[in-house]
Amino acid sequence: MANKTVAEINLNNLAFNVHAIAKKVSPAAVIPVVKADAYGHGAVRVTKHLVKQGFKAFAVAQFQEAMELRESGITQPILIFGRLLPDQIPAAIKAGFRISIFGKEDIDWIEKAGQNQSAVVHVNVETGMGRVGVFLDQEPDIFDQLIRSRQCLWEGLYSHFSTSDEADKAYANTQLSRFQNILAQIKSLKKKPSIIHMANSGAVLDIPASYFDAVRPGILIYGHYPSSEITQSITLKQVMTLKTYVSHVRSLPAGFPISYGRRWVTPRATKIAVLPLGYADGLNRKLTNQGEVLIQGKRYPMVGTISMDQTMVHVGDDPIKTGDEVILWGESAQGTIEVSEVAEKIGTIPYEVTCGVSRRVPRVYVGDS
Ligand SMILES: Cc1ncc(COP(=O)(O)O)c(C=O)c1O
Repeated sequence: MANKTVAEINLNNLAFNVHAIAKKVSPAAVIPVVKADAYGHGAVRVTKHLVKQGFKAFAVAQFQEAMELRESGITQPILIFGRLLPDQIPAAIKAGFRISIFGKEDIDWIEKAGQNQSAVVHVNVETGMGRVGVFLDQEPDIFDQLIRSRQCLWEGLYSHFSTSDEADKAYANTQLSRFQNILAQIKSLKKKPSIIHMANSGAVLDIPASYFDAVRPGILIYGHYPSSEITQSITLKQVMTLKTYVSHVRSLPAGFPISYGRRWVTPRATKIAVLPLGYADGLNRKLTNQGEVLIQGKRYPMVGTISMDQTMVHVGDDPIKTGDEVILWGESAQGTIEVSEVAEKIGTIPYEVTCGVSRRVPRVYVGDS
Protein backbone atom coordinates (compact mmCIF):
# COMPACT_ATOMS: atom_id res chain seq x y z
CA MET A 1 0.00 0.00 0.00
CA ALA A 2 1.52 3.31 -1.05
CA ASN A 3 1.85 5.83 1.77
CA LYS A 4 4.03 8.64 0.50
CA THR A 5 3.88 11.66 -1.75
CA VAL A 6 7.06 11.71 -3.87
CA ALA A 7 8.49 13.30 -6.97
CA GLU A 8 10.10 10.37 -8.71
CA ILE A 9 13.04 11.48 -10.84
CA ASN A 10 13.94 9.10 -13.63
CA LEU A 11 17.66 9.49 -14.31
CA ASN A 12 17.50 7.22 -17.37
CA ASN A 13 15.01 9.63 -18.94
CA LEU A 14 17.27 12.56 -18.05
CA ALA A 15 20.19 10.83 -19.78
CA PHE A 16 18.02 10.01 -22.79
CA ASN A 17 17.02 13.67 -23.23
CA VAL A 18 20.44 15.17 -22.78
CA HIS A 19 22.10 12.69 -25.16
CA ALA A 20 19.40 13.42 -27.75
CA ILE A 21 20.20 17.14 -27.43
CA ALA A 22 23.95 16.49 -27.64
CA LYS A 23 23.45 14.50 -30.83
CA LYS A 24 21.36 17.22 -32.40
CA VAL A 25 23.75 20.09 -31.63
CA SER A 26 27.07 18.26 -32.18
CA PRO A 27 29.85 19.39 -32.49
CA ALA A 28 28.64 22.16 -30.15
CA ALA A 29 28.91 21.19 -26.46
CA VAL A 30 25.93 21.05 -24.09
CA ILE A 31 26.02 23.09 -20.87
CA PRO A 32 23.01 21.70 -18.96
CA VAL A 33 21.14 24.37 -16.99
CA VAL A 34 20.60 23.10 -13.44
CA LYS A 35 19.45 26.29 -11.74
CA ALA A 36 16.42 26.41 -9.43
CA ASP A 37 17.37 23.02 -8.00
CA ALA A 38 17.46 21.60 -11.54
CA TYR A 39 13.98 22.99 -12.26
CA GLY A 40 12.72 21.22 -9.14
CA HIS A 41 14.37 17.86 -9.89
CA GLY A 42 17.22 18.16 -7.35
CA ALA A 43 20.38 19.85 -8.62
CA VAL A 44 22.98 17.72 -6.84
CA ARG A 45 21.71 14.32 -7.99
CA VAL A 46 20.85 15.58 -11.46
CA THR A 47 24.25 17.21 -11.96
CA LYS A 48 26.13 14.18 -10.61
CA HIS A 49 24.27 11.99 -13.07
CA LEU A 50 25.07 14.35 -15.92
CA VAL A 51 28.76 14.27 -14.92
CA LYS A 52 28.59 10.47 -15.15
CA GLN A 53 27.07 10.85 -18.61
CA GLY A 54 30.16 12.83 -19.68
CA PHE A 55 28.90 16.44 -19.47
CA LYS A 56 31.67 18.81 -18.55
CA ALA A 57 30.19 22.16 -17.54
CA PHE A 58 26.95 23.36 -15.95
CA ALA A 59 25.03 26.58 -15.44
CA VAL A 60 23.07 27.95 -12.49
CA ALA A 61 21.51 31.32 -11.67
CA GLN A 62 22.94 32.09 -8.25
CA PHE A 63 26.14 31.95 -6.24
CA GLN A 64 24.47 29.78 -3.56
CA GLU A 65 23.38 27.27 -6.19
CA ALA A 66 26.93 26.97 -7.52
CA MET A 67 28.25 26.57 -3.95
CA GLU A 68 25.79 23.78 -3.24
CA LEU A 69 27.13 21.85 -6.23
CA ARG A 70 30.79 22.46 -5.29
CA GLU A 71 30.19 21.45 -1.70
CA SER A 72 28.59 18.22 -2.89
CA GLY A 73 31.85 17.33 -4.63
CA ILE A 74 31.13 18.48 -8.20
CA THR A 75 34.43 19.86 -9.51
CA GLN A 76 33.39 20.78 -13.08
CA PRO A 77 33.12 24.41 -14.28
CA ILE A 78 29.86 26.08 -13.20
CA LEU A 79 28.70 29.24 -14.94
CA ILE A 80 26.61 31.60 -12.80
CA PHE A 81 24.08 33.57 -14.89
CA GLY A 82 23.21 36.04 -12.14
CA ARG A 83 25.23 39.02 -11.02
CA LEU A 84 27.69 38.49 -8.18
CA LEU A 85 28.06 41.32 -5.71
CA PRO A 86 31.51 42.23 -4.32
CA ASP A 87 31.20 40.16 -1.16
CA GLN A 88 30.61 36.98 -3.20
CA ILE A 89 33.42 37.49 -5.70
CA PRO A 90 36.46 36.25 -3.70
CA ALA A 91 34.75 32.93 -2.87
CA ALA A 92 33.50 32.59 -6.46
CA ILE A 93 37.03 33.03 -7.82
CA LYS A 94 38.46 30.52 -5.33
CA ALA A 95 35.78 28.00 -6.30
CA GLY A 96 36.60 28.50 -9.99
CA PHE A 97 33.05 29.52 -10.86
CA ARG A 98 32.55 31.09 -14.29
CA ILE A 99 31.49 34.64 -13.43
CA SER A 100 29.11 36.56 -15.69
CA ILE A 101 30.12 40.11 -16.59
CA PHE A 102 27.40 42.69 -17.27
CA GLY A 103 29.49 45.87 -17.37
CA LYS A 104 32.78 47.48 -16.39
CA GLU A 105 31.72 47.70 -12.77
CA ASP A 106 31.87 43.91 -12.53
CA ILE A 107 35.45 43.93 -13.82
CA ASP A 108 36.35 46.62 -11.25
CA TRP A 109 34.91 44.50 -8.48
CA ILE A 110 36.96 41.50 -9.60
CA GLU A 111 40.12 43.65 -9.72
CA LYS A 112 39.42 44.91 -6.22
CA ALA A 113 38.83 41.40 -4.90
CA GLY A 114 42.62 41.08 -5.21
CA GLN A 115 42.78 37.31 -5.43
CA ASN A 116 46.00 35.62 -6.47
CA GLN A 117 44.04 33.46 -8.86
CA SER A 118 42.35 34.55 -12.12
CA ALA A 119 38.60 35.00 -12.29
CA VAL A 120 37.26 33.07 -15.28
CA VAL A 121 34.56 35.23 -16.86
CA HIS A 122 31.83 35.10 -19.49
CA VAL A 123 30.48 38.40 -20.85
CA ASN A 124 26.70 38.56 -21.28
CA VAL A 125 25.88 40.95 -24.13
CA GLU A 126 22.50 42.58 -24.68
CA THR A 127 20.97 41.62 -28.03
CA GLY A 128 17.33 42.31 -27.18
CA MET A 129 16.39 40.20 -24.17
CA GLY A 130 16.12 43.43 -22.21
CA ARG A 131 17.25 42.00 -18.94
CA VAL A 132 20.90 42.09 -17.92
CA GLY A 133 23.37 42.04 -20.87
CA VAL A 134 26.03 44.69 -21.54
CA PHE A 135 25.00 47.45 -23.99
CA LEU A 136 28.12 47.67 -26.13
CA ASP A 137 27.25 51.14 -27.42
CA GLN A 138 27.25 52.37 -23.80
CA GLU A 139 30.43 50.50 -22.84
CA PRO A 140 32.34 50.22 -26.13
CA ASP A 141 35.74 49.51 -24.57
CA ILE A 142 34.62 46.81 -22.16
CA PHE A 143 36.42 44.08 -24.12
CA ASP A 144 39.68 46.07 -24.11
CA GLN A 145 39.36 46.55 -20.38
CA LEU A 146 38.80 42.85 -19.96
CA ILE A 147 41.84 41.98 -22.05
CA ARG A 148 43.98 44.42 -20.03
CA SER A 149 42.70 43.08 -16.73
CA ARG A 150 45.31 41.13 -14.78
CA GLN A 151 42.62 39.41 -12.74
CA CYS A 152 40.18 38.29 -15.43
CA LEU A 153 40.56 35.38 -17.78
CA TRP A 154 38.05 35.89 -20.60
CA GLU A 155 36.61 32.48 -21.42
CA GLY A 156 33.09 33.12 -22.72
CA LEU A 157 30.74 35.44 -24.54
CA TYR A 158 27.00 34.90 -24.50
CA SER A 159 23.53 36.30 -24.99
CA HIS A 160 20.00 35.09 -24.35
CA PHE A 161 16.91 34.76 -26.56
CA SER A 162 13.56 36.11 -25.41
CA THR A 163 11.35 34.50 -28.08
CA SER A 164 13.10 31.39 -29.42
CA ASP A 165 10.10 29.32 -28.31
CA GLU A 166 7.62 31.28 -30.45
CA ALA A 167 6.52 30.14 -33.89
CA ASP A 168 7.47 33.50 -35.39
CA LYS A 169 11.26 33.59 -35.38
CA ALA A 170 11.64 37.16 -36.69
CA TYR A 171 12.71 38.70 -33.39
CA ALA A 172 14.91 35.73 -32.44
CA ASN A 173 16.67 36.09 -35.79
CA THR A 174 17.17 39.81 -35.13
CA GLN A 175 18.81 38.92 -31.81
CA LEU A 176 20.95 36.31 -33.54
CA SER A 177 22.17 38.76 -36.16
CA ARG A 178 23.00 41.36 -33.48
CA PHE A 179 25.05 38.67 -31.73
CA GLN A 180 26.77 37.75 -35.00
CA ASN A 181 27.68 41.42 -35.49
CA ILE A 182 29.28 41.47 -32.05
CA LEU A 183 31.24 38.33 -32.95
CA ALA A 184 32.44 40.06 -36.11
CA GLN A 185 33.59 43.03 -34.01
CA ILE A 186 35.65 40.93 -31.62
CA LYS A 187 37.48 39.18 -34.47
CA SER A 188 40.14 41.88 -34.52
CA LEU A 189 40.82 41.77 -30.77
CA LYS A 190 44.14 40.45 -29.44
CA LYS A 191 42.40 37.93 -27.21
CA LYS A 192 39.11 36.25 -27.88
CA PRO A 193 36.84 34.11 -25.75
CA SER A 194 36.93 30.39 -26.51
CA ILE A 195 33.30 29.58 -25.69
CA ILE A 196 30.55 31.43 -27.58
CA HIS A 197 27.03 30.43 -26.54
CA MET A 198 23.47 31.62 -27.05
CA ALA A 199 20.94 28.80 -27.53
CA ASN A 200 18.35 27.93 -24.90
CA SER A 201 15.83 25.10 -25.42
CA GLY A 202 13.73 26.89 -28.03
CA ALA A 203 16.83 27.67 -30.07
CA VAL A 204 18.18 24.12 -29.71
CA LEU A 205 14.99 22.91 -31.34
CA ASP A 206 14.56 25.58 -33.99
CA ILE A 207 17.64 27.77 -34.56
CA PRO A 208 20.71 25.69 -35.50
CA ALA A 209 22.59 28.85 -36.56
CA SER A 210 22.72 29.80 -32.86
CA TYR A 211 24.62 26.73 -31.65
CA PHE A 212 28.20 28.22 -31.83
CA ASP A 213 30.55 26.44 -29.35
CA ALA A 214 27.94 25.44 -26.77
CA VAL A 215 24.20 25.45 -26.06
CA ARG A 216 22.44 26.00 -22.72
CA PRO A 217 19.25 23.94 -22.59
CA GLY A 218 17.20 23.76 -19.41
CA ILE A 219 13.60 22.62 -19.80
CA LEU A 220 14.40 20.13 -22.61
CA ILE A 221 16.70 18.08 -20.42
CA TYR A 222 13.83 17.57 -17.98
CA GLY A 223 11.65 16.25 -20.78
CA HIS A 224 9.44 19.21 -21.72
CA TYR A 225 9.18 21.49 -24.72
CA PRO A 226 9.46 25.19 -23.85
CA SER A 227 6.13 25.91 -25.57
CA SER A 228 3.58 24.33 -27.86
CA GLU A 229 4.70 26.54 -30.76
CA ILE A 230 8.15 25.07 -31.38
CA THR A 231 9.12 22.15 -33.59
CA GLN A 232 9.25 18.97 -31.56
CA SER A 233 12.46 18.04 -33.36
CA ILE A 234 13.77 15.96 -30.43
CA THR A 235 11.80 13.16 -28.79
CA LEU A 236 11.76 13.64 -25.03
CA LYS A 237 10.91 11.58 -21.95
CA GLN A 238 9.48 13.32 -18.89
CA VAL A 239 11.90 13.08 -15.98
CA MET A 240 9.61 13.89 -13.02
CA THR A 241 6.56 11.88 -11.98
CA LEU A 242 4.59 13.37 -9.10
CA LYS A 243 2.90 10.59 -7.17
CA THR A 244 0.74 10.28 -4.10
CA TYR A 245 -1.82 7.80 -2.79
CA VAL A 246 -5.46 7.62 -1.80
CA SER A 247 -5.68 8.36 1.92
CA HIS A 248 -9.48 7.96 2.33
CA VAL A 249 -12.42 6.91 0.17
CA ARG A 250 -15.68 8.47 1.31
CA SER A 251 -19.26 7.77 0.23
CA LEU A 252 -21.25 11.00 0.13
CA PRO A 253 -24.91 11.77 -0.46
CA ALA A 254 -26.18 13.82 -3.41
CA GLY A 255 -25.82 17.59 -3.07
CA PHE A 256 -22.85 17.48 -0.67
CA PRO A 257 -20.38 20.39 -1.03
CA ILE A 258 -16.68 19.62 -1.29
CA SER A 259 -13.94 21.72 0.36
CA TYR A 260 -13.49 25.48 0.88
CA GLY A 261 -16.00 27.75 -0.79
CA ARG A 262 -18.27 24.81 -1.78
CA ARG A 263 -17.09 25.09 -5.38
CA TRP A 264 -18.20 21.57 -6.28
CA VAL A 265 -21.24 19.67 -5.09
CA THR A 266 -21.84 15.94 -5.53
CA PRO A 267 -24.32 15.49 -8.41
CA ARG A 268 -25.63 12.23 -6.87
CA ALA A 269 -24.70 9.79 -4.14
CA THR A 270 -21.10 9.01 -5.07
CA LYS A 271 -17.55 8.40 -3.84
CA ILE A 272 -14.74 10.86 -3.30
CA ALA A 273 -11.09 9.86 -2.91
CA VAL A 274 -8.96 12.14 -0.75
CA LEU A 275 -5.30 12.72 -1.68
CA PRO A 276 -2.89 13.86 1.03
CA LEU A 277 -1.29 16.70 -0.93
CA GLY A 278 -2.22 20.24 -1.82
CA TYR A 279 -0.85 23.60 -2.82
CA ALA A 280 1.82 23.44 -0.10
CA ASP A 281 3.31 20.55 -2.05
CA GLY A 282 3.23 22.45 -5.33
CA LEU A 283 -0.15 21.39 -6.66
CA ASN A 284 -1.38 24.71 -7.98
CA ARG A 285 -4.68 25.83 -6.47
CA LYS A 286 -5.84 26.91 -9.93
CA LEU A 287 -6.22 23.20 -10.74
CA THR A 288 -9.39 23.32 -8.61
CA ASN A 289 -12.18 21.65 -10.64
CA GLN A 290 -9.78 21.40 -13.60
CA GLY A 291 -6.98 18.95 -12.83
CA GLU A 292 -7.01 15.22 -13.45
CA VAL A 293 -5.17 12.31 -11.87
CA LEU A 294 -4.52 8.69 -12.79
CA ILE A 295 -5.67 5.93 -10.43
CA GLN A 296 -5.68 2.28 -11.49
CA GLY A 297 -4.81 3.46 -14.99
CA LYS A 298 -7.89 5.69 -15.38
CA ARG A 299 -8.28 9.47 -15.28
CA TYR A 300 -10.39 11.08 -12.56
CA PRO A 301 -11.19 14.78 -12.04
CA MET A 302 -10.05 16.88 -9.07
CA VAL A 303 -13.16 18.36 -7.46
CA GLY A 304 -13.57 21.15 -4.94
CA THR A 305 -10.97 23.68 -3.92
CA ILE A 306 -7.44 22.31 -3.61
CA SER A 307 -6.40 23.04 -0.06
CA MET A 308 -2.97 23.32 1.53
CA ASP A 309 -2.62 19.63 2.29
CA GLN A 310 -5.57 17.84 0.70
CA THR A 311 -7.14 17.37 -2.69
CA MET A 312 -10.37 15.57 -3.54
CA VAL A 313 -11.05 13.43 -6.59
CA HIS A 314 -14.41 12.18 -7.88
CA VAL A 315 -14.11 8.42 -8.37
CA GLY A 316 -17.82 7.55 -8.73
CA ASP A 317 -18.60 3.88 -8.22
CA ASP A 318 -15.18 2.58 -9.26
CA PRO A 319 -13.40 0.20 -6.87
CA ILE A 320 -10.78 2.75 -5.74
CA LYS A 321 -9.18 1.85 -2.40
CA THR A 322 -7.16 3.54 0.33
CA GLY A 323 -3.47 3.14 -0.54
CA ASP A 324 -3.96 3.11 -4.34
CA GLU A 325 -1.16 4.93 -6.17
CA VAL A 326 -2.16 8.27 -7.72
CA ILE A 327 -0.26 10.01 -10.54
CA LEU A 328 -0.52 13.81 -10.68
CA TRP A 329 1.80 14.16 -13.67
CA GLY A 330 4.61 12.41 -15.49
CA GLU A 331 5.17 8.97 -16.97
CA SER A 332 4.18 5.81 -15.10
CA ALA A 333 3.04 2.23 -15.54
CA GLN A 334 -0.50 3.65 -15.17
CA GLY A 335 -0.09 6.00 -18.13
CA THR A 336 1.06 9.56 -18.73
CA ILE A 337 -0.09 13.03 -17.81
CA GLU A 338 2.04 15.64 -19.55
CA VAL A 339 3.34 18.49 -17.40
CA SER A 340 2.53 20.73 -20.38
CA GLU A 341 -1.15 19.72 -20.08
CA VAL A 342 -1.15 20.71 -16.40
CA ALA A 343 0.63 23.98 -17.21
CA GLU A 344 -1.83 24.85 -19.94
CA LYS A 345 -4.82 24.30 -17.64
CA ILE A 346 -3.51 26.88 -15.19
CA GLY A 347 -2.18 29.36 -17.74
CA THR A 348 1.51 28.84 -17.13
CA ILE A 349 4.56 27.05 -18.55
CA PRO A 350 5.99 23.62 -17.67
CA TYR A 351 8.94 25.34 -15.93
CA GLU A 352 6.69 26.74 -13.20
CA VAL A 353 4.97 23.40 -12.63
CA THR A 354 8.15 21.41 -11.90
CA CYS A 355 9.91 24.28 -10.07
CA GLY A 356 6.83 24.61 -7.87
CA VAL A 357 7.10 21.17 -6.25
CA SER A 358 7.96 22.11 -2.69
CA ARG A 359 10.55 20.91 -0.22
CA ARG A 360 7.93 18.85 1.57
CA VAL A 361 7.92 16.39 -1.34
CA PRO A 362 10.91 14.04 -1.26
CA ARG A 363 12.69 13.51 -4.57
CA VAL A 364 13.22 9.80 -5.14
CA TYR A 365 15.73 8.85 -7.82
CA VAL A 366 15.29 5.85 -10.07
CA GLY A 367 17.39 4.55 -12.94
CA ASP A 368 20.84 5.40 -11.56
CA SER A 369 23.17 2.43 -11.62
C1 LIG B 1 20.73 32.69 -19.48
C2 LIG B 1 19.93 31.46 -19.63
N1 LIG B 1 20.33 30.52 -20.49
C3 LIG B 1 19.63 29.36 -20.67
C4 LIG B 1 18.47 29.12 -19.96
C5 LIG B 1 17.70 27.85 -20.21
O1 LIG B 1 16.44 28.12 -20.75
P1 LIG B 1 15.46 26.95 -21.22
O2 LIG B 1 15.04 26.25 -19.97
O3 LIG B 1 14.34 27.63 -21.89
O4 LIG B 1 16.26 26.06 -22.11
C6 LIG B 1 18.02 30.08 -19.05
C7 LIG B 1 16.78 29.84 -18.30
O5 LIG B 1 15.91 30.63 -18.18
C8 LIG B 1 18.77 31.28 -18.88
O6 LIG B 1 18.37 32.22 -18.00
